[in-house]
Amino acid sequence: MKLTPAEFAFMNTRNRQRAMGYEFGALIKHLKKHGIDLNGKVILDAGCGPGFSTGLISLEFRPSRLVAFDLMPEMVELARKHTTAEFFVGNITDTGLPPGTFDAVFIFDVLHHEPGWRTALQEMARVLKPDGVLLVEEPSKQLVRLGNLFDMYHPPEAMFGWSELRRGLLSTGFKILENGRLGLGLFQNYLCRKEEASL
Ligand SMILES: C[S@@+](CC[C@H](N)C(=O)[O-])C[C@H]1O[C@@H](n2cnc3c(N)ncnc32)[C@H](O)[C@@H]1O
Repeated sequence: MKLTPAEFAFMNTRNRQRAMGYEFGALIKHLKKHGIDLNGKVILDAGCGPGFSTGLISLEFRPSRLVAFDLMPEMVELARKHTTAEFFVGNITDTGLPPGTFDAVFIFDVLHHEPGWRTALQEMARVLKPDGVLLVEEPSKQLVRLGNLFDMYHPPEAMFGWSELRRGLLSTGFKILENGRLGLGLFQNYLCRKEEASL
């Protein structure tokens, strides 16, 4: 779903950019721990927002191909100014991207906006190569509810708890390699591998 003007404004602040660095760093630690090297790989940034994450991915991994998309054309426009990638306006539940394309997919704080978040996970599994990795970070449902009191809107269907998200990942055919907590447990991240038998 599109962001409210209040959340759109927040996503474009220096504070959000700083937080993004912290969130990204936590995922890099998971990758290193598992000896996964994404240098020169084909990478997707799903729901890229203003492109802070896309810029970090570009600098860290020098991907051979970096694709990024967002539902909001205004976000894609900002992201294009921020960094270089193959940007497009698209929906995480149905990207139109060819199957088995990516070595890695990053999803930073997008699933809690999407009523069809389970479909989104299936779509990301579809576009990953066999053995590709999915890196996800999401806020707790308590934090998401709190946001709704401050001029943000998150659909009730996407207010999943941690066990629900875990089940969603596993039932899509992802193996969870690592699961970490950030910000006193207000956020959690996951490093997953697509299993051969999944979609
Ligand atoms: C909280 S922001 C996070 C942006 C960026 N990933 C970051 O962490 O800086 C959520 C983003 O997801 C996008 N979004 C929401 N629903 C989406 C969907 N169904 N498909 C693609 N993008 C979506 C929003 O437009 C917004 O840019």
